[in-house]
Amino acid sequence: MIKITNKLFLSAAAAAIVVAGFIGCNEGVAPTKQEIDGGISYPVANGKTGPYYVNTQVENYSINNGRTPTKDEYNAWNTDVMSDGTGLPEGQGSVSEGEEVYEEKCVMCHGDFGSGGGGYPALSKGNAEEMHKTLTYQRLTPDADGPKRFFGSFWATPSTLWWYIKDGMPHPATGTLTDDEVYALVAYTLNINEMQIDGEDVDDEYVLDREKFLKIKMPAKDDYVPNIDGPNGVENVRKYYSNPANFGAIRLKKGEEPCMKDCQEPTAKVAGITVGISEFYPPLSAARDLPQEEEGSASFDAKAAYAESCAMCHDTGAAPAPGDKAAWEGILAQGMDTVYNNAIHGTDAGMPAKGGSSLSDKQVKLIVDYIVNQSK
Ligand code: HEC
Ligand code: HEC
Repeated sequence: MIKITNKLFLSAAAAAIVVAGFIGCNEGVAPTKQEIDGGISYPVANGKTGPYYVNTQVENYSINNGRTPTKDEYNAWNTDVMSDGTGLPEGQGSVSEGEEVYEEKCVMCHGDFGSGGGGYPALSKGNAEEMHKTLTYQRLTPDADGPKRFFGSFWATPSTLWWYIKDGMPHPATGTLTDDEVYALVAYTLNINEMQIDGEDVDDEYVLDREKFLKIKMPAKDDYVPNIDGPNGVENVRKYYSNPANFGAIRLKKGEEPCMKDCQEPTAKVAGITVGISEFYPPLSAARDLPQEEEGSASFDAKAAYAESCAMCHDTGAAPAPGDKAAWEGILAQGMDTVYNNAIHGTDAGMPAKGGSSLSDKQVKLIVDYIVNQSK
């Protein structure tokens, strides 16, 4: 504790010295940018300075930047698999073989049957076609989670899966899987996503090879624009982005005449809950079943309330007493509405509003009724 205090004290003192020095050195000199920033500047050339230190001795060293890789080295490193099959090696593996490898090398992170969890991505959340629908409808049922973005629902090309597993998995030991193992793992991934190839279920016995792999159709294959694949990829991208309507929510009207009114028409669909809405019940009841009468009126004891709030005047001679028929006859001649009103809002003749109580209007009326009934 003492040490920390000392340090703070020392650095404060040091700062004070720096400030003093700063002011002292620059008396009468306008501060330059360098001094304001407090940074360090290094000489560059011709008396100029810059933020980086330039090692002028560099020409005296020979720097070894390695060598150009051999063709074999390059090919071993270049493992891309393209969607048209470029780079995809021959090989094969079955779903059940894939399951074995998965149980050994993947399950600890990606969970049973690719269910994910523990911070690692799921490889499936069920039937790929069904999950794909969640991208359009947001929710299959009102209480379900939102869009499911997993391999089966979201990925446009299976080649990405093949290459991802080969190149990047298993996470701690990348590049250790054989091509056959990757085929098997891809087959297993298709299986847990309940996918088909060429109309055939990818069941436990299914053996995946290069030829069958190239027939895989992802549910999301047409979801992505522009199409960047193949030799026309770059041109597709150029065309796509040269049309603003493709990436905004608005589109200019046909004819391209400049216009000042109703020039835009919406082109973006608003996503929302489109199914099951009729079965939606709001959490709060829409029925209005408030009590018929104001609070307390049903069990309200007018006699007791009179004793508490009114008797101090009305039973003491300061105000007309209940039962004083003569007095109340005159009062009641005004009509009941006026009498109620006077009791609630008070009178200039000495009746305070509600007798000074915090009773409700309804309660005051009930007491008035109580008084009046005894005075008829
Ligand atoms: C040590 C944990 C670990 C192991 C073991 C592991 N993975 Fe992964 N995997 C990850 C992580 C982390 C990511 C996400 C990486 C990222 O998004 O950058 C991932 C991502 C993936 C993806 C992409 C998922 C997506 O939707 O983005 C696939 C497919 C995959 N792994 C397959 C496998 C396979 C097959 C195995 C077994 C051979 C395996 N993984 C083993 C940690 C692991
Ligand atoms: C501080 C004294 C005082 C209290 C407390 C009081 N009153 Fe009065 N009240 C009067 C006086 C004085 C009058 C007569 C003058 C008047 O009629 O305005 C009166 C008159 C009335 C009248 C007749 C009003 C009219 O139309 O002339 C009613 C009804 C009445 N009181 C009801 C009540 C009730 C109910 C309470 C209790 C909740 C109550 N009073 C408490 C002083 C009081």
